[in-house]
This record gives sequence, C-alpha cells and structure tokens, in this order.
Amino acid sequence: MPDHRSVPSAPTDLPVLRDPAGLPALPPIAEPGQPWQAIDTPALVLVLDAFERNLERMQQAADRAGVALRPHAKAHKCPDIALAQMTRGAVGICCQKVSEALPFLRAGIADIHISNEIAGPAKATLLARMARHARISVCVDAVVQVRALAEAAEREQSGLTVLVELDIGQGRCGVADADAALRLAERIAAQPRLSFGGLQAYHGGIQHVRDHAARREGAARAAERAGAVAARLAAAGAPCQVVTGGGSGSVEFDLASGVFTEIQPGSYVFMDGDYGSNARGDESAAQALRFEHSLFIATTVMSTAAQGQVVVDAGLKSMAVDSGLPWVWQHGGQPSGGQPSGGQRDRGTRSTRLAYVAANDEHGIVRPVPGAGGEKPALPQLGEPLWLVPGHCDPTLNLYDTLVGVRDGKVESLWPISARGLSR
Ligand SMILES: Cc1ncc(COP(=O)(O)O)c(C=O)c1O
Repeated sequence: MPDHRSVPSAPTDLPVLRDPAGLPALPPIAEPGQPWQAIDTPALVLVLDAFERNLERMQQAADRAGVALRPHAKAHKCPDIALAQMTRGAVGICCQKVSEALPFLRAGIADIHISNEIAGPAKATLLARMARHARISVCVDAVVQVRALAEAAEREQSGLTVLVELDIGQGRCGVADADAALRLAERIAAQPRLSFGGLQAYHGGIQHVRDHAARREGAARAAERAGAVAARLAAAGAPCQVVTGGGSGSVEFDLASGVFTEIQPGSYVFMDGDYGSNARGDESAAQALRFEHSLFIATTVMSTAAQGQVVVDAGLKSMAVDSGLPWVWQHGGQPSGGQPSGGQRDRGTRSTRLAYVAANDEHGIVRPVPGAGGEKPALPQLGEPLWLVPGHCDPTLNLYDTLVGVRDGKVESLWPISARGLSR
C-alpha cells in the first residue's frame, strides 16, 4: 500500500476545491452540421471547396509534367490532409522532423521522406524503427550522419533510403558541390543497410520573390545547379533515382525544368498571406499556377469600446506573424476561399477597407485602412465574426489542435492537427 502520510494536504483556510467532480469541460470548438457562425473562436477554419481545388490543381500540374508529387506535411501537420493528398495521387509525403512523421505513419502513410538532416542517436534509432513499417528516406550533408544512420539501421535490422542534400543557393543545409555530393553518395552506397536515393535540392530563398519573372529566373538557376550535379553523379556511376525539391512558389518552374523527378510543396494547400503577396506579381503572368486562400482564422469582435477600431479575440497566441500580420478577409456572409486579388464570382477576397494593424497576446486591433477613399467603412459590430488570412500557415497550424472544415456555410469536419508541437 502506498504511504499516504507523505502526501501534503492543503491547509483548510485556502480556497482549494474539495470536490472537483462535476467541473465544466471545455466544449468542442464546433460540431458537424452546425452553421459556420456557431464555431467558437478563435478557430482555424478550412474552406473545403477551395482546399480541394488546390489539391487537384497541384496534382494535375504534376501529372501533366510527369513528375511525382510528394507534398510537405510540415505545412498542415494533419493526417486527414495527407490522406486527401495521397488519394489524389501523391506518392508519399515529406516531414521536416522525425517526431512529426509519427502521426502520419500511424495514419497509414507508407512512404515518408524526412526532408532534413537529423541530429542525435535517439532520432536515428526512431527513424530506423519507423523503417520497419514504411519506406523511409532522409537527407544527409556530412559523413558522420551517414555513419549514424547505418549504425541505427543495423541495430534495428531495417533499411533506410538516404538522399544527399545539395545547397542550390539558400545557404542553409546541403553540400556545396558535385565532389562533396559524390563522396557522400559513395559512403551511403557502401553501407549494407542504406541505399543512395538521389539528391534533395530545395531553395527556400526564391519561394517568395514577388516578381514572377525574377522568381522564374531564380528557380531556373537553382534547377541548373541541381541538374549539373545529378549529371556528374550519374557519370561517376551514382545515378540519382530521385531529384526532389521545390516549394509552392517555385514548383511551376521546377515542373518544367526537366531536372526534378519529384516536387515537395506544402503551403499551396492553404495559401497564406505571404504566398498571397506573390500572387500580385503573378497577375501579369497568364500561365501562372494559382491557388486559393482556403485557410482562415475565424475571430469575433470582442470590444468596440475605443473609437475608430474594433478588437477581435485572436492575437499572437492564435497566429504566427513572422511573415506579417494577417489580412482581413471579406467573404460576404458565406465563407468562401478565393484568390488574393479577388475577381472571381462567389469567392471571397482580401478586404481593402479594413486592416488588422496590431497583435497583442490575446487581442487583435482592426482599423479602417487609412486613405481607403470615399466614406469611412462601417466597422463590424460587437459580436460579429471576422475572418483573417494568417501571414504564415506552417507555424500558425502549430498553434491549434483542430482544423474546422466548412462547406456551404456548415461545419463538415473536425480534423486533429496531430503533429502539432512535434518538433523533435
Ligand atoms: C525542404 C523543404 N521542402 C519543401 C518546403 C515546402 O515549401 P512551401 O510550404 O513553401 O510550399 C519547405 C518549406 O520550408 C522546405 O523546407
């Protein structure tokens, strides 16, 4: 029997609950079938029609080019979304972290690429264990990483596919040139439980170049570097089965490059404010691959006490602002996605009259856009809903447990964001 005498008891004069049974539980954020106005806020909402159009548009573009689509799950961290991508033809998914991959493995995704280097024996062991259940690949840019993976795979009696990461201009991870890539490819191939899979060549720095022609130029230079290294490896007897890379901003060029066998975009699913700002530069490019805003933070006006502004119930703890403050979305009473510049019938658009101007921890300040012209826009009333487009989708998803799916004005789905917080 445990010795209860060692458990301190609360002094009787403190206001401590004696009978916590019967305390209220946190109600669900929404229930399927409810009207969208019933969603408790702040909430992360997915407009399902726009989301599905985005998935289909990307899959069709990849299919037309004969390039495999391996969407990045770090953008959504949600197994239901990964399964929707796989159903439409994705060959597998990318994760950025080993722990992030676990909920996807549990959901049955059998081909996961860790598009990153990993540090430390615990992660190598976990990865090698995962490889007993699914096809797992991972990146390296140093010999010690190859050794650690080989030892882990030997211990766990499994096999890993290993890609060499090549720096094609971002200056983050990856070897600098073909000689270094070849040395690593040979080390990988020499390990009995590892197989050399090819190259990862991702350039984050070009994804948000606003000007369409400048982005095309940057992507072309990056692809050229990747192509030259792949050719050199092939000539040296280490052909790359896979050359993978590309994000939502560069894939339209990567698909046409003839270099990439696989693309790994993530944010196209949602289109955040940062990617929405690319779209203005794309307006002149008739052929640009366009996606719609499908992800919103639903908020409620919680105070109108101060003149000339309203306060909504979503601040820093409900959104990432590293890529700018969120946009106010204008959807005319029926939630709908849409492209940033609007112009599509029955679709929403960015408000030109209201702006979210400051984020406190739990409060957001919304004011009329200065110089918006004409008469002053009517500010929303106390208790009215206001939807926002987050500036950066990935870290925003990481703040929520549930993604509320809406269609035709009604809540349709409640998807757990199962990999949120999994950053090891
Ligand atoms: C290695 C890698 N691949 C793909 C992506 C996906 O990019 P995006 O979400 O911009 O489409 C990222 C994003 O940072 C990345 O780091």
